[in-house]
Amino acid sequence: MLFRFVLTALIGMVAVPVVLATDGTVACDPSLRPVEISESGTVFTSLNYNGTAPYPPNQLCEYKFIGSVGQNVILTFDDIVLEECTDCNCDYIEVYDGPDDTSNLLTKMCGNVNTPVALASGADGFVRFVSDESTQGTGFSATFTVGNAACEGGVVLTEINGTFVSPNFPLNYGNSEDCTWTLKVPEDSYRVDVWFDSFEVEDRCMSDYVKMVDSTGNVLQTWWWEEGPQDPNVIFSSRSGQGDIDITFTSDSSVTRNGFRGYWRMGRYLPGTVPSRDI
Ligand SMILES: *[C@@H]1O[C@H](CO)[C@@H](O)[C@H](O)[C@H]1NC(C)=O
Ligand SMILES: *[C@@H]1O[C@H](CO)[C@@H](O)[C@H](O)[C@H]1NC(C)=O
Repeated sequence: MLFRFVLTALIGMVAVPVVLATDGTVACDPSLRPVEISESGTVFTSLNYNGTAPYPPNQLCEYKFIGSVGQNVILTFDDIVLEECTDCNCDYIEVYDGPDDTSNLLTKMCGNVNTPVALASGADGFVRFVSDESTQGTGFSATFTVGNAACEGGVVLTEINGTFVSPNFPLNYGNSEDCTWTLKVPEDSYRVDVWFDSFEVEDRCMSDYVKMVDSTGNVLQTWWWEEGPQDPNVIFSSRSGQGDIDITFTSDSSVTRNGFRGYWRMGRYLPGTVPSRDI
């Protein structure tokens, strides 16, 4: 009897589609972990969310967000009312900077948080909502959008390695772009390596260009049409003590190209293992 019940429940789980409310909102679906969301502008909520009714106890909801290359996942929490406990260990929302919970934890929220925005460094995001047995709030409502955060005010990246691309890559970037990726090192002794496997900007002297700048504003490297970093084996490195590194991209008001894809990694290097090119 018990076995049959469990089996039925399992089959039921597989069959349940994403719960789409009549207004297009994606609610928590405890049977689908994670619920996958890829359409920019989608509103997602806890179960039963309508601003006044409580969410059920003992919930586990997971949401996975998928943008495309060159975009950042942006999650804007419009309303959060959860049970509040020390260290947010009863009911909580966790936001991860990547496709699952092995990625960096960006934030863990509980209680009544005022409109926080969680910005992922790339095109994936993952959210988990957990409620325990006691005391329920009314839950949360949030909006998933995508954008290129580096070019809309700048983005701070703390991962030890990763990828950065020009807006719309591999399609053309826009005119008058002004983008900044700040590569934040865990300690001042760290160096930052940067290299590119694709680089194409306007072929006119210094009209569209990329710079690598250290924490004191020194320009370590400028890449443009004739001085483009074409070879992915050529690695540009800051030195220990130069601190956080900004990569900036500027385009003028005419002619755009496919842009670039770059990579970074941070580390401490022993003599003899220094990357191929010092700057
Ligand atoms: C929210 O849902 C509860 C329970 O279904 C209902 O009683 C209440 O009127 C709803 N509130 C709103 C604002 O729709
Ligand atoms: C970052 O480093 C890890 C471990 O070395 C590697 O598996 C991963 O592919 C790297 N990611 C990027 C974007 O370079």
